Amino acid sequence: MANRHFGKLSDVWKHAALAEVLEREAPLRYAETHAGSGAYPIVHDGERQFGILRFLDVAARFEVLARCRYRAVAASWLGGRSLYPGSALLAMTVLGDASSYLLCDLDSGSAADLRRWARELSLHGCEVAEADGMMAVAAWLDLPAGKPGLVHIDPFDPDARGPGGCSALELAARVADSGTGLVYWYGYDQPGEQAWAYTRLTVLTCAPLWCGDVMVTGTSGTAGDLGRATTPGTGFGVILANVQAGTVSACTAVGNALANAYAGALLPDGTRGNLTFTTRTNGRTV
Ligand SMILES: C[S@@+](CC[C@H](N)C(=O)[O-])C[C@H]1O[C@@H](n2cnc3c(N)ncnc32)[C@H](O)[C@@H]1O
Repeated sequence: MANRHFGKLSDVWKHAALAEVLEREAPLRYAETHAGSGAYPIVHDGERQFGILRFLDVAARFEVLARCRYRAVAASWLGGRSLYPGSALLAMTVLGDASSYLLCDLDSGSAADLRRWARELSLHGCEVAEADGMMAVAAWLDLPAGKPGLVHIDPFDPDARGPGGCSALELAARVADSGTGLVYWYGYDQPGEQAWAYTRLTVLTCAPLWCGDVMVTGTSGTAGDLGRATTPGTGFGVILANVQAGTVSACTAVGNALANAYAGALLPDGTRGNLTFTTRTNGRTV
């Protein structure tokens, strides 16, 4: 398992938005560059307590969160098997066997876990590539498809590229320009970096984009720590392209509800904090 960050607050926003997109767009082809493992045994530490565990505790009191698909999927995996579902298993759960999948990860343990879940869920069209996700998804994008698709890009390093390949941000621009649905995740640990990936991506593509950014704010200091995901000054966001206006509205509603649900929340360091949710569009219709 190469992903140590599962179930933290950054996953809550990423996966809540992804679930809205999956449910509303119902792509028949789904590709993911950095898929991680299928599922993760839950850990009861401060980060998950503030992340998925707090989310599930409070979601029932906020109508939008109470009925969002992410809550139902996460609650069912956690309640039934004490597992946190990663983005790929979330996609498999929401889309089922009606869609085909290309799931990439360089880590052999993660790839093996993805294959195991595809078998367990009896998916017939699931390819797991133990390969560089940018190269594999770029090739997938060039295939004649004739079916609506969605690409989820969740990079460790937005600028890293393999020999002859493109970076995660460059691939995101190609996906956006191709008309294929895009969900792109980014993180940061300085307040001045809010929505940085959106700023960079708008220069690389002509496509309409939407960005939903969540930043942790509080009383202690200004610099964050993305590894902990609950320190003031830490933030993360999701950029969408080629999705319907109703999907953007649904993601906006979930982001606002998340900020309301975490107002004055006790951070793992014992201080009180808030989430600042902001949206941006590049003036073109998404
Ligand atoms: C943060 S985890 C992914 C989490 C997952 N997308 C989710 O939301 O549940 C990042 C994963 O990227 C993988 N990885 C890193 N560089 C990669 C690359 N160039 N191509 C494919 N996978 C890569 C790591 O092995 C790790 O499992």
